[in-house]
Amino acid sequence: AGSTEVDLVLFGALGDLAQRKLFPALYHLEREGLLDPATRLLGLARQGHDLDGFRCRVEKSLEARVKTQELDRETLARFLARLDFLPLDFTCPEGYGAIREWRRHASRPMVVYLSVAARIYGDICRHLDTSGCLDDTSRVVVEKPIGYDLASSAGINDAIAAAFPESRVYRIDHYLGKETVQNLIALRFANPLFGTQWNQNHISHVEITVAEEVGIEGRWGYFDDAGQLRDMVQNHLLQLVCLIAMDPPANLDADAIRDEKVKVLKALKPFTDDMLGRDVVRGQYTAGSIDGKAVPGYLEEEGANTKSHTESFVAMKTGVANWRWAGVPFYLRTGKRMPEKLSQIVIHFRQQPHYIFDPDQRDLAANKLVIRLQPEEGIALEVLTKDSGLDKGMRLRRGPLHLDFNSAFPKTRIPDAYERLLLEVMKGQQYLFVRRDEVEHAWQWCDNLIAAWEEHDEPPRRYPAGSWGPVASIAMITQDGRSWYEDY
Ligand code: BG6
Repeated sequence: AGSTEVDLVLFGALGDLAQRKLFPALYHLEREGLLDPATRLLGLARQGHDLDGFRCRVEKSLEARVKTQELDRETLARFLARLDFLPLDFTCPEGYGAIREWRRHASRPMVVYLSVAARIYGDICRHLDTSGCLDDTSRVVVEKPIGYDLASSAGINDAIAAAFPESRVYRIDHYLGKETVQNLIALRFANPLFGTQWNQNHISHVEITVAEEVGIEGRWGYFDDAGQLRDMVQNHLLQLVCLIAMDPPANLDADAIRDEKVKVLKALKPFTDDMLGRDVVRGQYTAGSIDGKAVPGYLEEEGANTKSHTESFVAMKTGVANWRWAGVPFYLRTGKRMPEKLSQIVIHFRQQPHYIFDPDQRDLAANKLVIRLQPEEGIALEVLTKDSGLDKGMRLRRGPLHLDFNSAFPKTRIPDAYERLLLEVMKGQQYLFVRRDEVEHAWQWCDNLIAAWEEHDEPPRRYPAGSWGPVASIAMITQDGRSWYEDY
């Protein structure tokens, strides 16, 4: 492990993800000098294109997406020169011989990236295998969603497993590539200050918000079948819960980390019927406005089925039933069409055992650790100090010990999640990728909740676009005498 010398074979090279995320990420790796000179990329797409047309298309995408000051012609030319292209009908085995031909004398590992719908993962893996494209160094990268529930995800995973052993399967959850998400590991396991405090003796509750301004962005067909629980909670939010709640791994090896994450997933509190409506709130946005701009409701989106009960928001109170976390609620919420794009984790520490300050300020008196994933990455520890001023006595004041990554480390560019993930897969390192049992335990937990929803079939609660979700999601936390964290 360590070299990035690979042949990258990209299925769906003209698709949205490839153009929006993968090519810009690879371009940045090129610019940072992180791509081995011998690394090549073969783009595969159904539509006919020739190599010049393909390079032209990639160049245009890069010009549109990479910041002007980061786009230099020399890097661009070097990057484009690595690209090759083949038109291919992915479901038709006859065409795959051309990939084998393309690789004829190559001894470097092949990394197959499936940037296509999960329902054809199985076909592609089988055709690659039967046409003799694979050897025992070939790796495969797959995107979420891996299935729709436990059964379908197991079917997809079986089909992948028939061609690739688990040690060469890289399941992407792009949240694991985000700088601050990886920082959770550094923060927790490198800082004794937090290491000793990270349990139910010292933490009262944990809050995770992943809010987006965008709606479903023309993806009605996909999103309406999935909904926010499958689209965001099953993967991204549960991965965050795992990284917050896991026990320290013995080392940084992929399986050491993933074993600990699986233990968290197995210990997640299951849902019971009485939690619906009280500890779990589903929402769907109605028309509203964001940043002063009017936006349509979910049921008025293009292609909408006006009767849909699909949720675009979900809030829940859950927990991890083990020694470390017994009795500590984890409040999660995520939604589309919220007032701003904001992903943050707030760790609320317990109060001191004996309180000696102004009784009116009692509720203030606890520390909070705020971990901001986006937009501006940063970590703030909220501490209490004495309010200054002669007339204030021993009044307390909250203030952050604040680490803003952009101002603390101004020269470092924070890479996009896909840059990190592509780099790791080229190096053959799996620790930022999701193992099969993680996906399946996460599905099992979600399936249990979905089954309860389906049985009760209650419509989601409405919330106007541009708000923080249905009122019931505020009540869910205030009923416990707490509130969603607002300051930063
Ligand atoms: C994707 C979801 O996995 O994550 C999208 O399918 C969502 O619906 C996106 O918008 C959010 O990612 P990020 O990195 O913008 O928080």
